[in-house]
Amino acid sequence: MRSAMDRDAMDRNGGDTAALHAELTDLLQLEHDALPAYSVAISGLRTPEFREALTSFREDHERHVRELTALIRDLNGMPIAMPHLPTGLFKLAVQTAGLPGGERAVLLAFLSNEWQSKEKYARHAARPHPPEVAALLNRCAEDEARHYDWACGALDRLGCGADTAVGRAAGAFARFHGTVADVVEGGGRMAMETAVRGLRRR
Ligand SMILES: [Fe+2]
Repeated sequence: MRSAMDRDAMDRNGGDTAALHAELTDLLQLEHDALPAYSVAISGLRTPEFREALTSFREDHERHVRELTALIRDLNGMPIAMPHLPTGLFKLAVQTAGLPGGERAVLLAFLSNEWQSKEKYARHAARPHPPEVAALLNRCAEDEARHYDWACGALDRLGCGADTAVGRAAGAFARFHGTVADVVEGGGRMAMETAVRGLRRR
């Protein structure tokens, strides 16, 4: 458990605790967006290699949840164990829509969701943070880049790589889908930050 003195040091070292709390909550919700979408994707895959890869990646996300939850608790925060609304549901819908199309459609939908996770963690990892938080965000960013790279390679082997018409269309959709989700989730993060500041002032 982090002491009040440590939290004060975190305030001085990495900006204010309300902003950090809101940022970590947003990322925890990103993980809760990902977990059900992973389960849907795994259920739609038949190739053992693909199922094993996504099962292992889902374990990375479960670790992210544990580590983000512990950090939020250390900040005296309440971890939110639920997806973003409505973007988490939309990500799940994107993944579910891929199911009837077989392995390629499932992995194309997976790639779209992973693009946002990869980009979002990379952006957050690049910001200044206290060392313990920076180490966690860097690990998560590396995991997400690895998941995304794996999906690109698997789609390449299935003939839907980034150089193909299908791959280009999927990439454009991923950027649109991810950018919209970022804007909506950014609004939620600011509302959370304002609420935490109000609670801390009382
Ligand atoms: Fe992932």
